[in-house]
Amino acid sequence: MVNRYSFLVLLLVSFIACQSSPKQLNDTSAESSTEPAASVKDPVYTKGLALVGKNDCMTCHKIDDKLIGPSYKDVAKKYANAPNNVVAALAAIVIKGGSGNWGNVPMTPHASLSQEDAETMIRYILTLK
Ligand code: HEC
Repeated sequence: MVNRYSFLVLLLVSFIACQSSPKQLNDTSAESSTEPAASVKDPVYTKGLALVGKNDCMTCHKIDDKLIGPSYKDVAKKYANAPNNVVAALAAIVIKGGSGNWGNVPMTPHASLSQEDAETMIRYILTLK
């Protein structure tokens, strides 16, 4: 005969087993170890971060330090008080390439980027100040 208790115990054990299985990592937080946790839920931040990671930006830029290009923190500081349309202007610079604003080394053009994606990346960068 089926023991009601053993059935309940089995149910309880499998319930506990499910509860203690490792939680799925939030995949948006796996993009970079340098991001501040507070911004992870901001969609512009998350999407901009992903786009920057998908493109070649990080071969020349770092968040905190100057590499070939200026650090993103310095970019964010420089334009912190700029009018809103600076986002479109900086996005256009990323697409067409830029030079002369930070030194003698030019930034290569990114002609395949859409203006929209470039603006999302700029908005993300400008949060890093
Ligand atoms: C080949 C190296 C290189 C790559 C790749 C690169 N950059 Fe740059 N970036 C630079 C340099 C150098 C400058 C400074 C240009 C100047 O002096 O005006 C710069 C400047 C910038 C600026 C500031 C522009 C200004 O006029 O103030 C932004 C924003 C920027 N980069 C974003 C990006 C993004 C986003 C990407 C990826 C899509 C990217 N960069 C890829 C080298 C690079």
